[in-house]
Amino acid sequence: MLAQAATRFGMGLSTQAMSAMGNSLRHFASEGCDLKEAVRELIPAQQERLKAIKKNFGNKSLGEVTVEQAIGGMRGIPGMLWETSLLDPEEGIRFRGLSIPELQAKLPGAHPGGEPIPEGLLWLLLTGKVPTAEQAKAVTEELRARSHMPPHVLRTLNALPEDAHPMAQLSVGVMALQSGSHFRAAYTNGTHKSKYWETVYEDSMDLIARLPQLAAMIYRRTYKGGEQIAPHPTLDWAANLAHMMGFEDPGCLEMMRMYQTIHADHEGGNVSAHTCHLVGSALADPYLSYAAGMNGLAGPLHGLANQEVLHWLKDLTAKLGPNPDKEQVRKYVQDTLASGRVVPGYGHAVLRKTDPRYSCQRDFAQRYMPDYSLFKLVSHLYEVVPEVLGKTGKIKNPWPNVDAHSGVLLQYYGIKEENFYTVLFGVSRALGVLSQNVWSRALGLPIERPKSLTMEAIEKRFGPEPGWGEDAD
Ligand SMILES: CC(C)(COP(=O)(O)OP(=O)(O)OC[C@H]1O[C@@H](n2cnc3c(N)ncnc32)[C@H](O)[C@@H]1OP(=O)(O)O)[C@@H](O)C(=O)NCCC(=O)NCCS
Repeated sequence: MLAQAATRFGMGLSTQAMSAMGNSLRHFASEGCDLKEAVRELIPAQQERLKAIKKNFGNKSLGEVTVEQAIGGMRGIPGMLWETSLLDPEEGIRFRGLSIPELQAKLPGAHPGGEPIPEGLLWLLLTGKVPTAEQAKAVTEELRARSHMPPHVLRTLNALPEDAHPMAQLSVGVMALQSGSHFRAAYTNGTHKSKYWETVYEDSMDLIARLPQLAAMIYRRTYKGGEQIAPHPTLDWAANLAHMMGFEDPGCLEMMRMYQTIHADHEGGNVSAHTCHLVGSALADPYLSYAAGMNGLAGPLHGLANQEVLHWLKDLTAKLGPNPDKEQVRKYVQDTLASGRVVPGYGHAVLRKTDPRYSCQRDFAQRYMPDYSLFKLVSHLYEVVPEVLGKTGKIKNPWPNVDAHSGVLLQYYGIKEENFYTVLFGVSRALGVLSQNVWSRALGLPIERPKSLTMEAIEKRFGPEPGWGEDAD
């Protein structure tokens, strides 16, 4: 977009010079390529739609809430609006109505027939429309124009010990960026609530633009002696992330585009998305909301499971060698369960089938690394683990999730440091949670405040007296 604009206006600027001019050039966008304008045009109709839903269906019941649900992590309680994606237990995730194979078929790639670029997904998440190749490219250029990293961020990271967990570094790095929040400044200056979404959009795009560099900084300072690699002047957003980490293999760049696309969103109830939504609902700015979500993603039952899978696989191969037979794997899984730990990468709170994000990564591995030993091991586990988990009788979904496969792809391309993996997940997750954040403010969604209960309150409501059942045999 910027390149076209510059050519059209005979400016003859280098890419770096255009980047430096940043947003000031965006008004030269060829028609239909300005993402913020595309969002702006959609808002009045969506606000009317929500008003009509409230008026017509506001008093309809979405179901009953049982005590078990209230004390069981609110599983299955519909309690929030989330526009960017919807998860079906059997079918998996749909981003604005599109399944992962549909995304792969419809979204523009960096090459014909290649993996979609996440910039196209960002357009889709924010507008609900599949972008043209030109629109996706305009997002790449908008993000490039916004990607300047203030020098204090690296200084802030460097104040942390080198062995600080990469997810803690991500959170600190995002917080270091928060001083540039447009939303915070606008709110302090008394901006009208109808305009909140505009500065939330600005912050979200600035943050998304800078996350690849922030992630690469963390990677290079933690694992590569601190020498940083400058952003590539022409690469797309995800490929540039791989480049700044120090990886150039074209297969690795394609893998990063795919990885960053499929991890972006998984409806609203998961810990990272819900946290971001909750914190944003208090009108905390996008930096604060996203960092809060990332602190949740860093939990081993959520995003950190991708790191845990690699630890678990390494332990397995250390104990059983690289080619264990089915009986040995079965025993290893049983031992994991008997030790009171979870089998990482398996199970899901909503899904009841193999995660299509797992299948997508498996397809990628079949195309790019069919003979890779770790891929073969993970495929082997697929034949054994669900059966063992299923036999426990209590695990509702014995099938693999996204985290069971992502490490294989990263290891193959030389990204060996598994403690970094959740950062890559987190960079992608920004696309979904921040897109929703823009829409949450555009739709004027209120502060989130569900009701909590004490045990006594439950006993009073359903039992004969408080403490009832305590001494029951
Ligand atoms: C994702 C996860 C947290 C969902 O939890 P959930 O909704 O409570 O799942 P379930 O209803 O099936 O859990 C029922 C029981 O099975 C256990 N369980 C579920 N998945 C399990 C697994 N992979 N390994 C061992 N036990 C598991 C639960 O811990 C729970 O045990 P409890 O009753 O003793 O507390 C869970 O499957 C898990 O811990 N998986 C491993 C971590 C992981 O891969 N996380 C990434 C998810 S994308």
